[in-house]
Amino acid sequence: MKVGIIGSGDVGKKLGDGFVALGHSVKIGTRDVNKLAEWASKHGTHASAGSFADAARFGDIIVIATSWAGTTSALEMADPQNMAGKVVIDVTNPLDFSTMPPTLAIGRTDSAGETVQRLLPAARVVKAFNIVGNPHMYKPSFSEGRPTMFICGNDDSAKKMVTDILTAFGWESVDIGGIEGSRLLEPLAMLWITYYFRTNTGNHAFKLLRK
Ligand SMILES: NC(=O)c1ccc[n+]([C@@H]2O[C@H](COP(=O)([O-])OP(=O)(O)OC[C@H]3O[C@@H](n4cnc5c(N)ncnc54)[C@H](OP(=O)(O)O)[C@@H]3O)[C@@H](O)[C@H]2O)c1
Repeated sequence: MKVGIIGSGDVGKKLGDGFVALGHSVKIGTRDVNKLAEWASKHGTHASAGSFADAARFGDIIVIATSWAGTTSALEMADPQNMAGKVVIDVTNPLDFSTMPPTLAIGRTDSAGETVQRLLPAARVVKAFNIVGNPHMYKPSFSEGRPTMFICGNDDSAKKMVTDILTAFGWESVDIGGIEGSRLLEPLAMLWITYYFRTNTGNHAFKLLRK
């Protein structure tokens, strides 16, 4: 499978590492390909860098991993037409860094997931991977077992594909419904972030317990 990743930060690179490790080909999009030279060279022919539009054209499946402040601009540069009909995994959290710890810039009546779906009306957007720090996105290892990744989106076949990806990445998935579920998953990321700032550790993840 060819994976196009819009976003060159820690998330884009970490998820890129995971997809390459699973045998996929990855192109990360950025405004400055020089910053990805080391990342691309470590993966040889399975990884490359290009513009946001190059990555959007390349991928059979797309990952959005941009800062909230840059997301609209990055998706415009990527060109929504290049993602029409494709499964798009939205990892963004709508964080406002004007105070620290950051807060949610939007919520309750809207979300980043819904914003991304509006910006990419012909794409099949699935919210995933947003509720954990990037070091644990691929093959999370916790003594209490596999953590839970909650996902949401409007297209069942897209969620099935993302569930299969999450399983390969080492996660249990729980589907919470349509893309408006992002109004719950983005505050859940804030809970992860709050615990991070209170404990100064990033070694935590959520698990849904049932009986
Ligand atoms: N860090 C984590 O562990 C973590 C975990 C869960 C979710 N998230 C969410 O995942 C997303 C990515 O996080 P990150 O820490 O990897 O990276 P980030 O620093 O939040 O974002 C980096 C990306 O945003 C792009 N960008 C920034 N301003 C832009 C602008 N004005 N126009 C176009 N593009 C712009 C950058 O473009 P260039 O490549 O051109 O510089 C880069 O590709 C965020 O929404 C974050 O909240 C992060």
